Amino acid sequence: DTPDLLDRFGRIARDLRVSITEKCSLRCTYCMPEEGLPPIPREQLLTAAEIVRLVAIAVHRLGIREVRFTGGEPLMRRDLEDIIAGCSHAAPGIPLAMTTNAVGLAHRAQALADAGLTRINISLDSVSREQFAQLTRRDQLASVLDGIRAAKAAGLTPVKVNAVLMPQTLDGAADLLAWCLDEGVELRFIEQMPLDADHEWARSRMVSAEQLLTVLSARFRLTETDREDQSAPAERWAVNDGPATVGIIASVTRSFCSDCDRTRLTSEGTVRACLFSDQETDLRTAIRGGANDEELVALWRGTMWNKWAGHRITKADFTPPQRSMGAIGG
Ligand code: GTP
Ligand code: 5AD
Ligand code: SF4
Repeated sequence: DTPDLLDRFGRIARDLRVSITEKCSLRCTYCMPEEGLPPIPREQLLTAAEIVRLVAIAVHRLGIREVRFTGGEPLMRRDLEDIIAGCSHAAPGIPLAMTTNAVGLAHRAQALADAGLTRINISLDSVSREQFAQLTRRDQLASVLDGIRAAKAAGLTPVKVNAVLMPQTLDGAADLLAWCLDEGVELRFIEQMPLDADHEWARSRMVSAEQLLTVLSARFRLTETDREDQSAPAERWAVNDGPATVGIIASVTRSFCSDCDRTRLTSEGTVRACLFSDQETDLRTAIRGGANDEELVALWRGTMWNKWAGHRITKADFTPPQRSMGAIGG
């Protein structure tokens, strides 16, 4: 039987999020600076084989039950299909999901599904071409919409759409929901967290779940329903009496840290216990120094044991982590 990955507050990590690159095809203002993140030298990135080994250890030795690939933008890695095929082989039956901006996804969705990817979440903040281009600093809306349809066609379902709430896009939130209802994909709005590379986040400028509900209620009838499961970040609301729902991830105003079931691996091969950790444990150096599975397991456990009770975003002494969102992967 598998010993669980525990922290001192009694939480058990079941969900592994693996960032595989810091590169991205977009430059969302709340995530990345205009020029992108400083490139990570190739030899500092985990190879596909190293990722597969660590995922296998997480699943077989640490009780992980779902793996999600993130970035930056995971599609920026040309060996993404190999990584997924390797993990699918090493951890049969474990759901393999991906969070992506979907740029260029249309011509890879089927190959990814064939490699063993099971489900996909797509970041999309606006269905207005102009707003999309402004927010992401790239004119790529059409490619994203094609990507969403291709993901559905390839059976990477349920497709979920993530939209980070921003003052500029609040006006378009109801249009975005209408579009998602039409396409049959589940939309989730996310409160912006202070993880932008430019450190411009301020609570006073952040759009809250409350504000969003007011805006959406002008056009849709919303009724609160259950979360998907206890540790799922999204509160869900039935739209016009269902069955369609809209989710709200109120990470800041109604934080869900006490039910957190996540552990994270960065593209450089370090383990993070929390999005906001100020500490990482380097598994890459250990692997390349010849560490065996036991040693890697012990290092991973040690990091998780020191996980904080929760983020301190709204506290006066909050300091953002050194890694910005683009390098942690959401
Ligand atoms: P599902 O399994 O489909 O629910 O995926 P998910 O919501 O776990 O993953 P996704 O990558 O779609 O994440 C959506 C958003 O949830 C992210 O953009 C984050 O804003 C937020 N989120 C994910 N994990 C955490 C976390 O550990 N802490 C906090 N505060 N927010 C998180
Ligand atoms: N706050 C909240 N969510 C964010 N994302 C990126 N930056 C932030 C932020 N500062 C979201 C992306 C993507 C997910 C991985 O994280 O939109 O859906
Ligand atoms: Fe890239 Fe995703 Fe960040 Fe947008 S949110 S800049 S798509 S990593």
